[in-house]
Amino acid sequence: MNLSSEQGSDLSMLGLQRQLRDDAISTALNSHGYFFLKEWQPETSTFELACSIGSVVDLEKIAAAYKLANVQALKPRESDESSPHSYSSVYGLKGFPLHTDYAHWGTPPRFLMLRCQAGDPSVITYLLPSSCIADHAGQIIDRAIVVPRRKHPAQTICPLAVRYRKAGRTGFRWDSLFLRPLNQAAEALADVVQARSNLDQIAITMHDPGDTLIIDNWHMLHGRSEVPHRVLNRHIERIYLSNLRGLK
Ligand SMILES: [Fe+2]
Repeated sequence: MNLSSEQGSDLSMLGLQRQLRDDAISTALNSHGYFFLKEWQPETSTFELACSIGSVVDLEKIAAAYKLANVQALKPRESDESSPHSYSSVYGLKGFPLHTDYAHWGTPPRFLMLRCQAGDPSVITYLLPSSCIADHAGQIIDRAIVVPRRKHPAQTICPLAVRYRKAGRTGFRWDSLFLRPLNQAAEALADVVQARSNLDQIAITMHDPGDTLIIDNWHMLHGRSEVPHRVLNRHIERIYLSNLRGLK
């Protein structure tokens, strides 16, 4: 293919813009554990945008038995005690406690991207760096062991270290709903998480289409405030990434 010099410079400018964008995302994630951008290409699909910045976790393939979609629609709904298998079904419109996603996996997804389709400023996404917990947890953080709650008596479950090491990096898992403490260190750590969530959590509001939040799921906990009945049309899309192009 032959390109005119003008086309070539357009393409190199596009490449530079993408490089700058990828660098900005990785710098924010390395420094703060999250990246937030208002009204980021609202006309671009969540899947397309995620593919342009990193490697999407193919949940449809690796968790086919659970019928998980690669792009998940998060919409507020009333609690449903007959099927207590998700935060929405347990907490309904109430606030969601701080947690990391898929904390019961041996290796949880590294990043999650939340993207607003329809939002409201009254609903807040909370973030808490695991470093704030580690700073106040002393030695217990490396001794804390949790175990998934059994869904049925025959289910085989494996204890998990709260702080884990994968691919040369340290990660932190936390989920007070689907994981239970297995030792005193984990019980004591739950008190630290509760205390720090009241003091150190960061508040983000996603209320315009395209508002996009990327969270380092190995280093940040996240939660949600309660949802007023008047904003039941809230719609956030979620997708997971295993890597980001700009991350060294
Ligand atoms: Fe979550």
